[in-house]
Amino acid sequence: MSIKIAPAKGKLGILTPGLGAVSTTFMAGVEAIKKGLGDPVGSLTQLGTVRLGKRTDNRTPKIKDFVPLAGLNQLVFGGWDIFEDTAYEAAVNARVLEPEMLRKVKKSLQKIKPMKAVFDKNYVKRIDGPNVKTKGSLRDKAEALMADIKSFEKANDIDRTVMIWCGSTEVFHKPVKVHQTLASFEQGLAKNDPDIAPSQVYAYAALMSGVPFANGAPNLTHDIPALLTLAKDRSLPVCGKDFKTGQTYMKTLIAPGLKARMLGCNGWFSTNILGNRDGEVLEDPGSFKSKEETKLSVLDQILQPGLYPELYKNLFHSVKINYYPPRGDQKEGWDNIDIYGWLGYPMQIKIDFLCRDSILAAPLVLDLVLFLDLAQRAGMKGVQEWLSFYFKAPMTAPGLYAEHDVFIQLMKLKNTLRWMRGEDLITHLGLEYYD
Ligand SMILES: NC(=O)c1ccc[n+]([C@@H]2O[C@H](COP(=O)([O-])OP(=O)(O)OC[C@H]3O[C@@H](n4cnc5c(N)ncnc54)[C@H](O)[C@@H]3O)[C@@H](O)[C@H]2O)c1
Repeated sequence: MSIKIAPAKGKLGILTPGLGAVSTTFMAGVEAIKKGLGDPVGSLTQLGTVRLGKRTDNRTPKIKDFVPLAGLNQLVFGGWDIFEDTAYEAAVNARVLEPEMLRKVKKSLQKIKPMKAVFDKNYVKRIDGPNVKTKGSLRDKAEALMADIKSFEKANDIDRTVMIWCGSTEVFHKPVKVHQTLASFEQGLAKNDPDIAPSQVYAYAALMSGVPFANGAPNLTHDIPALLTLAKDRSLPVCGKDFKTGQTYMKTLIAPGLKARMLGCNGWFSTNILGNRDGEVLEDPGSFKSKEETKLSVLDQILQPGLYPELYKNLFHSVKINYYPPRGDQKEGWDNIDIYGWLGYPMQIKIDFLCRDSILAAPLVLDLVLFLDLAQRAGMKGVQEWLSFYFKAPMTAPGLYAEHDVFIQLMKLKNTLRWMRGEDLITHLGLEYYD
């Protein structure tokens, strides 16, 4: 039996705290695709298919034809930033897309003017800007964000809205008392508790406004009992954290392959050079610590050294990011992987990934907002583990380890879509073909 999904009618508002490289590449990309200037490469919602029934059935619709997703023409963008640049100026500054391409979508991007941000320099140390809300307590600022959401929805005749954090990486912090219950969180807002990060004020404002929330950065943000309870109470789907794009994506492709063949690994050294504003923010040790935690968590879970001590007990894993302005958004990530085979004989794998950070991230933003909106219309609430596919540090129910293997994540995602539409889940057992 399929579950009830409300139709994707009307306009879908997409709000991004942060109008930087990722969010503007996403917005400009959608506008360009709408004009037929390019293809949505990297987007599962736009290009992916889902196999239904038996392998002999020949039923493989596109995902966007199988589940009712909002179309690109229904999307309306808005956002907040500490800088006053419109999405067009921010996209030009980010130097991801060619000026010629940007000129063709200038009219739409120029209309996206950043609303005043909730910002705290203690959480993002390397940047500062003038476009910030200065009045009142964090509670007042949360209310100002809610008012922003309302006026954005009204001005654009929006039917539903999704918010996705595309702001800078905030410094690493762990949940403390103020994060535990909604009551303590709200008291903390009123008292300007320094343990409440700006991203948490946005997440609170979103959920209070009935807006699903996703987090593309590694910050703690809504991964705290107070906000997860709020999401459940308000029947809102949420997901995070930290887009899985370049080096970590490669890691989650290769590590399951090594483990599948019971090949050992005793060293994985990863380093990057990156020259965009994200790279600059990550020069701060506090912000880097947030990133390092999500980047390091992946291998342990995939390789399971507790289950395979002969293969992974001594794994040395190190991740570095160096800010190197000449490269801009065109990151280079190197991996040296020390592996061993039969009788412990050593081998090495070297990866040199010359990638483009925001080109890899933009389609993930698109998929996430469309799937979160779908989840909302399907009545799914709380953490959406089926969207783990998109994240370096997938959020899960308390006590549940995160699944990092990208192929398991993809199967989970597609099975969730099948489940939504009342189709058989695919187990890959396949004995019936040999009866
Ligand atoms: N590009 C990728 O492949 C990738 C992968 C994983 C995660 N991320 C994360 O996505 C986020 C965005 O990346 P980016 O390359 O666009 O960075 P960016 O520096 O270009 O953009 C971030 C923007 O957020 C703004 N900002 C910071 N604090 C804010 C606040 N409190 N409110 C509103 N705006 C705020 C900054 O002024 C900046 O314009 C970063 O946290 C990054 O770590 C990116």
